[in-house]
Amino acid sequence: MTISTQITPVKWEDDVLVLLDQTRLPVETIYLHLTTAEEVWGAIRRLEVRGAPAIGMAAAYGLYLGIRDSEAQTYEQFWQELNRQADYLGTSRPTAVNLFWALDRIKARVEKEKDAALSIAELKAAVLNEALAIQAEDAEVCRTIGEHLLTLLQDGMGVLTHCNPGALATAAYGTATAPFYLAKERGWNLKVYADETRPVLQGARLTAYELQRAGIDVTLICDNMAAMVMAQGKVQAVVVGTDRVAANGDVANKIGTYGVAVLAKAHGIPFYVAAPLSSVDLATPTGADIPIEERPAEEITHGLGKQVAPDGIKVYNPAFDVTPAAYITAIVTETGIFKPEEIAKSKQ
Ligand code: MRU
Repeated sequence: MTISTQITPVKWEDDVLVLLDQTRLPVETIYLHLTTAEEVWGAIRRLEVRGAPAIGMAAAYGLYLGIRDSEAQTYEQFWQELNRQADYLGTSRPTAVNLFWALDRIKARVEKEKDAALSIAELKAAVLNEALAIQAEDAEVCRTIGEHLLTLLQDGMGVLTHCNPGALATAAYGTATAPFYLAKERGWNLKVYADETRPVLQGARLTAYELQRAGIDVTLICDNMAAMVMAQGKVQAVVVGTDRVAANGDVANKIGTYGVAVLAKAHGIPFYVAAPLSSVDLATPTGADIPIEERPAEEITHGLGKQVAPDGIKVYNPAFDVTPAAYITAIVTETGIFKPEEIAKSKQ
């Protein structure tokens, strides 16, 4: 049995990028139809598409949209335009390395054709095909990560997750949620606890929504309830996604993840990170080198649709934090299960 209720957040249909607007979930299901790189940039910045792999996929299609009407006559002109568009899309959000990975992968594909004397139309087609390949591969990658993670879990376990590392953040299955979907396929009963994930509530609006929709046993908790739930013995494992894994095994993920990792260690609960290789960035030495996005104060002061803080209050709103490798039991990629300090082996 496969789970047919999964949602597809990113679609390429009739030469248009169709995005499920994740800012409107769970109340409204609205699809955005994007035809320019500028629209894709805005959708990424506004979190209409979000989650590291989905951001990468959207940026890849955005790059194609940015060059599809190019009037370049030579490879050199096309290459310059491609780089300009890639640099522009790269300014949409800083933390998820999948964005840069996808743009670099497309550039590498075009560079490979440098001496092949392809027409400009053929180069444009190569860009689109690479974007399509990135999306197609992501579904397989997530499923494989799920298979590996499932070997670390058991039927009947309680598993806590943070943010949305789900189908909504990927081509299918999600990364950290993949074992939940696979467990469901196998008739296991996992009990998932989803942190609501302040301030933007990806856990409440997205993870709770997609897992409930798929018939997975999911219980929503506020972020400040995780310690209690662990102390009560309801959770036997934590599985989260990531926006970037540094070479030393430090992991950036949605703000609050670090706190969950500290709690898990205090309660002797294993803490697993699901990371496609597109999120593993060996060029970034440590977590301290990962750029952390800061988002508008309104996400906190007006985060629940109404003003919840005084006018003019000072706000600090980092969108991500870094969990040091020492708090991570294992990082699970499509190539296997790795100790954080051995994450470089995942790419060998
Ligand atoms: O700000 P967001 O919603 O893009 O943050 C998303 C996360 O932090 C996810 O946990 C991460 O991208 C992993 S998605 C498989």
